[in-house]
Amino acid sequence: FESPNDDNGYDISDYEAVLAEFGTMDDWNEFLSQAHKRGIRVIIDLVLNHTSDEHPWFVESRASKDSAKRDWYIWRDGKNDAEPNNWESIFSGSAWEWDETTGQYYLHLFSRKQPDLNWENPAVRDALYEIVNRWLDRGVDGFRIDAISHIKKDLTFSDLPPVPGKKYVPSYVKHMNVDGIHTFLEEFKQRTYANYPDVVTVGEANGVGADEALLWVGSENGKMDMIFQFEATGLWNPETEAKLDVVKFKETMTRWQNAMRSDGWNALYIENHDKTRIVSTWGDTGEYWYASATAFATMYFFMRGTPFIYQGQEIGMSNIEWDVIESYNDVGTINMYRDRLAAGESHADLMRYVWASSRDSARTPMQWSAENHGGFTTGQPWLQVNDNYPSVNVTNQWDDSRSILSYYRRMITLRKAHEVLTYGDYTLLWADHTEVFAYTRTLGDEEVVVMANLTDKCVNIPFDGVGYALVLHNGSLDASVFELQPFEARVYMRN
Ligand code: NOJ
Repeated sequence: FESPNDDNGYDISDYEAVLAEFGTMDDWNEFLSQAHKRGIRVIIDLVLNHTSDEHPWFVESRASKDSAKRDWYIWRDGKNDAEPNNWESIFSGSAWEWDETTGQYYLHLFSRKQPDLNWENPAVRDALYEIVNRWLDRGVDGFRIDAISHIKKDLTFSDLPPVPGKKYVPSYVKHMNVDGIHTFLEEFKQRTYANYPDVVTVGEANGVGADEALLWVGSENGKMDMIFQFEATGLWNPETEAKLDVVKFKETMTRWQNAMRSDGWNALYIENHDKTRIVSTWGDTGEYWYASATAFATMYFFMRGTPFIYQGQEIGMSNIEWDVIESYNDVGTINMYRDRLAAGESHADLMRYVWASSRDSARTPMQWSAENHGGFTTGQPWLQVNDNYPSVNVTNQWDDSRSILSYYRRMITLRKAHEVLTYGDYTLLWADHTEVFAYTRTLGDEEVVVMANLTDKCVNIPFDGVGYALVLHNGSLDASVFELQPFEARVYMRN
């Protein structure tokens, strides 16, 4: 979408135009039709919680208090010569921005160039539905619906209890999965994709718990096909960089599996463009790079739901560690660095935190080959490529049967070949095992056992393999059947 790119395109200034550096709407139409000819479906990101401050709606809204579009965004007077309340933006600092022209503040949960739309205003909702419907008319196959759990705000706009040492207070409780949101979601669905059974929808649903999942994705009351839950990947703590608590991780993933045991559908992921890379956090970028990338892959890929693969995950791309903040592009990272530096933290401490948290680690150019910029472009990319591109790249892994890429191909083939991996029931095994994530999928007489050692230790497992065939494996079986090597993963099928 056309965008000034303050937040890498999540600040849209025209929902129906392609950003010039990427092409034109004609190019987009051609791309969609060529994809369809090859049996590939295309889903697009829908960013409906906010626009860019350069969107004509906001330009009109900010022009005067009497503007016809004033109430399309959330404007408030200041309080005691300061912001209307103490809510913190998700990207640091106040969630309110002062606007000189009219002497009021506007709300922005994300960057100051991403003013929040006022979903309470029916005219705003009508305008958004019309846009979505025009995309459906253009033949798009589905939507990833951005920040959708934030569209409803707590309309009291009251202050949060102060937090010592903080001027602004994390404000999620005031705008994430707030009561009343389902009225908006239901209307949105009914007025747009409800009559398109082949269109797939996956909502980004921060703050939604497994106990509420069916309200979002159940066959009776659901508003979309799937949601991305944040509880499992949210266990990574960039402040402490603590190792994975495998038992807690299993409990979290299993809670979501069980919530959708017989209804609803999970969106399965371990990486995305807002998270750091799995090999750099809970995996290993050294000796166990291949093993850890494939162990985490095995763990999530065979659960009940639709597995999503984030670009670069399938070749084991890892985090970047740049020395200076100027090398980074992520507005959230930059704001955080600036605010915490001003509050007295050291550059060195902050950079360590940036390395463990910045979304840019997942956003470096895709590493296609050992050529300049990883073969991504002959131009100048928006971020430097990861230094490891000469060795970690698609070309190197393409024909190598022991590569992470080949392992992903094997996983996909296996999943497609056996209905049990789509429809089978999920049951967690060895819940208290502190290193291994293991589960079964069962359908009729079929049973698949999936196990992954998510640590760098050798561990024993209570499984002898008798009566099972090993159908996928990221290691060599010279060790005992009863022992898993560091980050070893196996998939068995009952004979
Ligand atoms: C969630 C997106 O995934 C993220 O990248 C973006 O910055 C925010 N929503 C704001 O649109």
